[in-house]
Amino acid sequence: MDRETKERIASGELRHIAFIMDGNGRWATRAGKSRNEGHRKGAKTFEEIASYCHEIGVRHVTVYAFSTENWRRPESEVSALMRLFSSYLDTAIRRFTEKKVRVVFLGDKTPFPPAIVKKMKRLESDSSSYSDTLNIAFNYGGREEIVHACREALAAGEEISEEAVARHLYTAASPDPDLIVRTAGEMRLSNFLLWQAAYAEFYYTDVLWPDMTFADVDKACVDFLRRKRNFGGIDPNPGPD
Ligand code: FPP
Repeated sequence: MDRETKERIASGELRHIAFIMDGNGRWATRAGKSRNEGHRKGAKTFEEIASYCHEIGVRHVTVYAFSTENWRRPESEVSALMRLFSSYLDTAIRRFTEKKVRVVFLGDKTPFPPAIVKKMKRLESDSSSYSDTLNIAFNYGGREEIVHACREALAAGEEISEEAVARHLYTAASPDPDLIVRTAGEMRLSNFLLWQAAYAEFYYTDVLWPDMTFADVDKACVDFLRRKRNFGGIDPNPGPD
């Protein structure tokens, strides 16, 4: 990554990148491997790319690992993803906490076996004092999150307002994403960060998630930093037409 891009990230222009990690299945088909091998390669890529983002100064990273709709996949694929996730809780995800990154799981934990929930909560509490964050959306749905946040606000006796809802979102520890990257050529949000995406910039690439490289992340960052963000206002210095 070039120096100017790094400096602009360090100055806070790009605080939060979120990834929709798509294309594990297509990667596996192209490589003549099983879908589960595609997910294993995707998980390795997740570990490398999330670490890289923190290294280049992006303080908050979010990944969409399993949606509330992914339960509709064949039982064998769902259980392989659960096993992969469970093994990552003990290894790669724990390593983030050792590097002083706060780990937060976005989504409803209730369908997971108690042993997994215990590990997830332990990782969250062990790292809760750190400010750089890795959000892992697992059994996550944007609509479910908004309903959940409203219920929590009401249970706390709060009136519903934008601030109250935002305070109770699973992502409350992070600012809204500046940039949402989706791989594998799809151009959909797929129920991801519906509330938080209000002013996010989108970046799509045909690269399949398991093939995503640091150079691809650099490209997305450079593209993002070229854009003008007015957040619904107007550009105070529009320059000549
Ligand atoms: C989308 O590809 C990917 C998923 C539904 C799962 C994403 C999970 C990982 C990358 C593993 C992450 C694991 C951890 C430990 C966080 P797809 O299967 O929909 O691909 P396709 O559209 O090409 O079939």
